[in-house]
Amino acid sequence: MQAKREKIVILTGAGISAESGLGTFRDEGGLWAQHAIEDVATPEGFARNPRLVHDFYNARRIQAAEAKANKAHQALAQLQEHFPGEVVIVTQNVDSLHEKGGARNVIHMHGVLEGALCATCDHRWPAPDEMEPETTCPHSSAPSARPDIVWFGEIPYAMEEIEAHLSEASLFVAIGTSAQVYPAAGFVEAARSFGAETLEINLEPSDLANRFHSHRFGPATETVPEWVAALLT
Ligand code: APR
Repeated sequence: MQAKREKIVILTGAGISAESGLGTFRDEGGLWAQHAIEDVATPEGFARNPRLVHDFYNARRIQAAEAKANKAHQALAQLQEHFPGEVVIVTQNVDSLHEKGGARNVIHMHGVLEGALCATCDHRWPAPDEMEPETTCPHSSAPSARPDIVWFGEIPYAMEEIEAHLSEASLFVAIGTSAQVYPAAGFVEAARSFGAETLEINLEPSDLANRFHSHRFGPATETVPEWVAALLT
């Protein structure tokens, strides 16, 4: 009988893109210190002031388009290519740096800056560089284009698929996330309940550090390539 292929499920957060120059949310001076969540990251905020919300995401879209993948993104792509089992990358990040680093089939549970979504008919299309309150949906023609970003109070994408992966994981790894936002923060517990080993890779211990079996602390561009090299040799 053939042994079951090992499956590694990796959850990434803003910390993996920090060294590419993209700001995190909750570190000192992070995005949520500069902007009120309820104004720029909720459906209610968008209904109140779509211009403000578009300005916020337009700026982030331009910044993300200019950013380059770093050694941590590249190392995960290498792992996907060379690991003899399956490597699933689930990201909370709305940038495309995993893809720029060569990763395949990345699950963007919080959406993507490169996408536009019609709040009227749910049609999706590539976002223009600058979205405006007047931007219309190419399908319904409704002037209700929004960034394809999952906001607070909304359900993240692909939850069933992610839960299925977690239930089959032999190893669950969280990289560069403060573990403060659910449901992603609950993945470590879910993976453990299905019998996975768990590893936290972060600049410093997260709030849920004690729920992981093992840890590697330090900047992602150092810790992630080191971990991948150890796994592939
Ligand atoms: N290398 C590794 N980790 C880092 C680095 C780095 N160079 N720089 C910062 N970190 C760590 C921080 O220590 C922190 O634990 O990354 C984490 C970033 O945490 P957050 O800013 O809270 O980002 P994240 O966990 O991705 O946020 C989750 O919250 O509002 C939202 O929707 C948004 O997807 C986001 C979600």
